[in-house]
Amino acid sequence: MDFYDVINKRKSVKKFKNTKICEEKLGRIINTAMLAPSWKNKTSYKFIIVDDSYKKEKISECIKNSSDEAMQAIKDAPILSIVVGEPEDSGNVDGKPLYLVDSAIALEHFVLAAASEGYGTCWIASFDEDKIRQYLSIPFNFKVVALTPVGEIQEEKPHNPIKNVNEHVFLNTWNIPYSRKKEKVLS
Ligand SMILES: Cc1cc2nc3c(=O)[nH]c(=O)nc-3n(C[C@H](O)[C@H](O)[C@H](O)COP(=O)(O)O)c2cc1C
Repeated sequence: MDFYDVINKRKSVKKFKNTKICEEKLGRIINTAMLAPSWKNKTSYKFIIVDDSYKKEKISECIKNSSDEAMQAIKDAPILSIVVGEPEDSGNVDGKPLYLVDSAIALEHFVLAAASEGYGTCWIASFDEDKIRQYLSIPFNFKVVALTPVGEIQEEKPHNPIKNVNEHVFLNTWNIPYSRKKEKVLS
C-alpha cells in the first residue's frame, strides 16, 4: 500500500472482529515500531502485547472518560498493544518529558504499520494507570503512556475532515498562515 493510502486508511476503529491476528503480520508491525526514532536513540519505551482474554477484560474496566465503545473494543479485539515509557531513561528539555514523545512516535509507527497490514486500531490514553500497572506487573519506573486494540475491522466510520491548513500551519511567524505565501507567489 502506498504511504498516503496508509495514512488515509488509518482512523480510530472501535468495532472489531475477534479473528486471530496473523503472527507474520504482527511481527512486521512490531519491527516497524522498533524502527521509531527516540531521544538519543535510547528507545526508552517498551511494548506489552496482550492476547489473554482475562487480562483484556480487566484492562477494559480501567478505561476512564471513554465511551462504552472503547471498552468493548478492548474486549473484542484479539490483541492490545500497550506502550510504556521510562522517564528517567529519556530526556527532559525545558520541562518537556521526552519519554512521552518517544513512546508516542513508537506507537504511531505501530498504528500505521497495522493500517498497512489491514488492521484497525484506536489510540486510548485515558485509563487508570495504577490498575493496568498492577494487572501487567509493570515496574514503577515506567509510565503507561497509551494503548490500542488491534484487529480486523468490523465497522469503520468515515474519515474526519482534514484540518484547515490556514489555522494549523504557519510560515516564519506565529499566526501567518503557511498557505498565504502560496497566494502571494501566485498573485
Ligand atoms: C494521544 C491520543 C489519545 C487518545 N485517547 C483516546 C481515549 O482515551 N479514548 C478514545 O475513545 N479515543 C482516544 N483517542 C482517539 C481520538 O479521539 C481520535 O484519534 C480522534 O477523534 C480523531 O479520529 P481519527 O483517529 O479517526 O482520525 C486518542 C487519540 C490520541 C492521538
